[in-house]
Amino acid sequence: MKRDVKNNISWVGKVDWELRSFHGHELSTHRGSSYNAYLIREEKTVLIDTVWAPFAEEFVRGLEEEVPLPKIDAVVADHGEIDHSGALTELLRRIPDTPVYCSANAVKSLRGQFHQDWNFQVVKTGDRLSLGAKELVFVEAPMLHWPDSMMCYLTGDGVLFSNDAFGQHYATELLFNDLVDQSELFAEALKYYANILAPFSPLVTKKIQELLSMNLPLNMICPSHGVIWRENPAQIVEAYGRWAAAYKENQVTIVYDTMWDGTRRLAEAVARGINEAAPDVRIKLHNTSLADKNDIITDLFISRAAVFGSPTINRGILTSLAGLLEEVKGLKLPAKKAAAFGCYGWSGESVAILNDRLRQAGFEVVDEGFRALWNPDDKALQSARAFGARLAAAL
Ligand code: FEO
Repeated sequence: MKRDVKNNISWVGKVDWELRSFHGHELSTHRGSSYNAYLIREEKTVLIDTVWAPFAEEFVRGLEEEVPLPKIDAVVADHGEIDHSGALTELLRRIPDTPVYCSANAVKSLRGQFHQDWNFQVVKTGDRLSLGAKELVFVEAPMLHWPDSMMCYLTGDGVLFSNDAFGQHYATELLFNDLVDQSELFAEALKYYANILAPFSPLVTKKIQELLSMNLPLNMICPSHGVIWRENPAQIVEAYGRWAAAYKENQVTIVYDTMWDGTRRLAEAVARGINEAAPDVRIKLHNTSLADKNDIITDLFISRAAVFGSPTINRGILTSLAGLLEEVKGLKLPAKKAAAFGCYGWSGESVAILNDRLRQAGFEVVDEGFRALWNPDDKALQSARAFGARLAAAL
C-alpha cells in the first residue's frame, strides 16, 4: 500500500515486522526492518528501488494498484543487493524494456545475481535524469554499502534517496522520524552503522563532505530501510559524521565466555576494579555465548576500551570469542584500547592468544593481561580487581 511522502513522491515498499535476522543469520534485527521503494510521479514516472525477493509478487501487485506498470518510464536501482533488487525480476518480466538506471558496478551485481540482460542505463556522479520540471541527480556511493551503491537526489523537492546510508532495521507504520520513539530509532541507527557501515567510515566522511560541497537543499532523506528523515534530516548526517570519526563514549565493554564460571567471576571482579578506580566509566558485561553478537558489537563500537576474557581450552580460546573477534577484525572498529584475561587449569594459552587476536583486530593492547590458575579463590579475585583498577588507569 502506498504512503504519501512529499508532493509527487510516494512510499511503495514493504514493512517486514517478522524479520529477525539479516544477511542470512549474520545480523540480528530485533525490531524487524523495511525495504523502502519510492514512486515519483512528475511528467515522468520513476520507481526507485524495489523490495526483498520474498515480497516481489506482493510488491508488484501493490505497485500496479498505484500506477499501470507500462506508465513507469524508468526504474532506478541504487544498489544490487537483493533486499532492494529482489523484485526486479518480477517487475521487469512485466515491463521488460523499461530502462534501469544504475552504476556500472550494479550492472555486474544485477547480472551476476539475476542473469538477465535488462535495459541497463549506466550513470555516474553528476548525471541527471529529467522528470520534467524536476531532475534526478545521481551520486555514486561506493561501499555504502557495496561497490555498486549510489544515491539520487530530486531537485525541486530537495529529497535525497540515500539507499542503505542513513537507514535502520526498524519496522514501523509511522514512516517518518519525528513520529517514532527516538531512543528506539537512534539505537537502531547506531546498531546499523556499527555492524554494517563501520568498516567504511573513511568513505562515509568523504561522501558527507562531497554531499555538503554540492550545496543541495536537503529537505528530506529517504533511506532504503527504516524511517524517512523528515524532521531535521541533518541530524542523521551529523550523527554519521560523529560515528565515522573514531567515535568513543566513556564506556568500557567486558566481553567473555566461561565454562565453569571461573572466567565469569573474573569478568565481574575486573568490572568491580574498573568501577572502584573510575566510578564515572559506564561498564557493560556480555557473555558471548548468551548475548546477541550484534548488540555486543554495537557496545564495542561506542566503547573507548574493551576487555576480553576466555578460559583456555585445547590450547586455544572458546569459539564464541574467536568468532566475535573474527567479525570485529573485519569491521575495523575505530582505535580502541584493550586487554585480556582468563582462567586456566593446565597450559594456559588463552590470554596470549586473545592478545594476538586483539592486535590483529586493530586494538591497542595496553596490558599483558591477567590469568588465574584453576577456579579463582578470593586472592585471585582480589588480583582481578587490581587488574581492573590498573586497566582503568591505562584505558
Ligand atoms: Fe539494504 Fe546493502 O542492502
